[in-house]
Amino acid sequence: MGWKGREKIMADNILDRFKEVKEEKVVDASKKVRVGIIGTGWIAEAHVESYLKQPDVEIVAAADLVEGKAEAFFDKFGMKVKCYRSHAEMLDDESLKLDAVSVCTYNRTHAECAIYALKKGVNVLLEKPMCVTLDEAVAIRKAEKESGKVISIGFQPRMDENMKMIKKIVESGKLGKVYYIQTGGGRRRGIPTPYGTSFIEDKTAGIGAVGDIGSYSLDMVLNAVGYPKPLTVSGYKSNFFGTRPDYYPEHPEYAKKFEVDDFAAAFVRLEGGIVLDFRIAWAMNLDTSGDTIIMGTEGSLRIPSTECWNGSVGGEMTLYQDVCGQQTETKIPIIKGDGSLFDKKIRSFLDAVKNGTGAPVPTSQIIYNQAIIDGIVKSAEAGHEIEITIPEC
Ligand SMILES: NC(=O)c1ccc[n+]([C@@H]2O[C@H](COP(=O)([O-])OP(=O)(O)OC[C@H]3O[C@@H](n4cnc5c(N)ncnc54)[C@H](O)[C@@H]3O)[C@@H](O)[C@H]2O)c1
Repeated sequence: MGWKGREKIMADNILDRFKEVKEEKVVDASKKVRVGIIGTGWIAEAHVESYLKQPDVEIVAAADLVEGKAEAFFDKFGMKVKCYRSHAEMLDDESLKLDAVSVCTYNRTHAECAIYALKKGVNVLLEKPMCVTLDEAVAIRKAEKESGKVISIGFQPRMDENMKMIKKIVESGKLGKVYYIQTGGGRRRGIPTPYGTSFIEDKTAGIGAVGDIGSYSLDMVLNAVGYPKPLTVSGYKSNFFGTRPDYYPEHPEYAKKFEVDDFAAAFVRLEGGIVLDFRIAWAMNLDTSGDTIIMGTEGSLRIPSTECWNGSVGGEMTLYQDVCGQQTETKIPIIKGDGSLFDKKIRSFLDAVKNGTGAPVPTSQIIYNQAIIDGIVKSAEAGHEIEITIPEC
C-alpha cells in the first residue's frame, strides 16, 4: 500500500474516534425470559418500556400492594398480565415459571422482595439503593449465595461511557496512587415528590437523599477505584427543607410526612489509605455542592457536577498532571453513547440471566455502598465517628 493509502487509513482511524460509541448485539430470541414486575409505580414504567424492546422477554405477571394498581398500570400499556396483591403471592404461583423479577418497590421492601425471589430460585434486578440497612444487604447476599441466582443492582449510570472512562483513567495509572476523593452532588430544590410521598416517609423510603442520589455518587467513585472496603465513617444528616410546609406550595401537608434526610455529609476512610469526602442534597441554598474530584500522586481528575444530580457526568472532565515540570490540564470530551442507559441496564441483566454470567452490578460491590450509607445514618445519630463492620456473608 502506498503512502496515500496509509494516510487515508490513519485519517479514517482518527475520524472513527469522533463517532458515537455504538454497540450492536445479536440476541437469541428463541428462549424467552419470563419476567414479573414487583411494584408498579413510577420506575416500573421504565423497566417495562425497556423489557418491551427486548426480543427475548415475556412479561407474564406483576404485583402491587395497592388493590387494582398493577392491573391499571398494564392497562395503560394495553397489556394483559396476571396481577397479584404482593410479591409473595406472585412468587408463590409456580405456574408462572418466572425466570426473573424486577423489584421496583420503595426502598423499605427491597430486601424482603429480593430475598423472597432468590429463595424461590428467581433471578432479581433490584432497583437502587440496594436496600435501607447494612443488615438487610447482608441478608440479601446470603440469600444470593444460597440460591446461586443472579441479582444485579439497578445503577444504570454504570452503563454510561463517561463513567467507564473515569474507571479507565484510574486503572490506566495516570492518577498514580489515589489518596483523596470528593464526591456527591446536589439539587437546589429537588425532593422527589411528583407521585406522592413514598420517597420521604420512613415506612416506605427509610432513607432520603443519602440513599436515593447519594448511592449513585458513591457508586461512581467506588467503582472507579475498585470498590475498596469502607473502614470508618463520620456522618451528618439533616432535614431543614423537607420539613417546611412552604417547600411544597401545593402540598404543605407533605412537611409533616417528611421523616428522612434531605442533606447528608460524611468523611469516610477506605481500605488502601483513601479518604472519601461526601455530601449530597435533595435541597439546599446553593447551586451545587461541588464537583467530584479524584486526587492521586501523579494526577487528579475533576468531574463536573450536574444541576439536578442523578448520577451523570455534568460536562467535560479535566485531568491535571505535571508533564516534565509543566502543569498541564487535559480536557476529556464527553462521549455520546448509543441508546438509553436504562435499556442497557435491562439488557445486561438479561444477558447475565441467560448466560449464567456474573451480575453486571454485583452485590459484592454494592454491599460496601450500602455499608457507607448505613454508617452515615448510624454515625449521624450517634454524633461521632464509627467503625464499619461488615459481617461475613
Ligand atoms: N434507577 C432509577 O433511575 C430510579 C428512578 C426512580 C426510582 N428508582 C428506585 O425505584 C424504587 C421505586 O421507586 P418508585 O418511584 O417507582 O416508587 P413508587 O412508590 O412510585 O412505587 C413503588 C410501588 O411498589 C409497591 N410495593 C411496595 N412493596 C411491595 C410489595 N412487597 N409487593 C408488591 N408491591 C409493592 C407500592 O405499592 C408502590 O406502588 C425506589 O427504590 C427508587 O429509589 C430508581
